[in-house]
Amino acid sequence: MKTIVIFYSYTGHAKALAQKAAEKESADIAEIRDLRRPSKFRAFALGCFAAVRGKSWPIQPLGTDLAAYDRLILFSPIWAGNTPPAVNALLEQVPENKTVLVKAVSASGSSACKERIEAVIKPRGGHLESFENIKS
Ligand SMILES: Cc1cc2nc3c(=O)[nH]c(=O)nc-3n(C[C@H](O)[C@H](O)[C@H](O)COP(=O)(O)O)c2cc1C
Repeated sequence: MKTIVIFYSYTGHAKALAQKAAEKESADIAEIRDLRRPSKFRAFALGCFAAVRGKSWPIQPLGTDLAAYDRLILFSPIWAGNTPPAVNALLEQVPENKTVLVKAVSASGSSACKERIEAVIKPRGGHLESFENIKS
């Protein structure tokens, strides 16, 4: 099973955890980047507004063909209880029939997005193997 670690990180916590996981798994790693990095105000206002509604916003091309992997380990920060819009954009691009493991990184260690992630990947044959909340 070929595995890739993917992460989005606004302040560095998810990035550090993703890098450790990629080393441990000897896996490739790719970063989800906003098309334009949002200001703090934009992240908290528009970003949280979008996150709560499960909306995406534009991201840069990942630069890696996800179709070449069987298993995706996704490290995502939690914004307003949910995955940030950049992560939602990536989830919409996950190719068919992938096994996905999500590590939700937040200050509180709780989130409300597991079912929504499943709902996005399931119609394309995706399988959410695990969902873990991690307190940063
Ligand atoms: C815009 C924004 C919204 C956030 N909303 C939440 C939240 O609802 N619950 C929570 O526990 N932490 C929240 N946090 C804190 C982050 O989830 C936490 O600091 C996480 O570790 C950040 O990961 P990062 O450093 O990789 O960006 C929020 C942070 C930001 C920037």
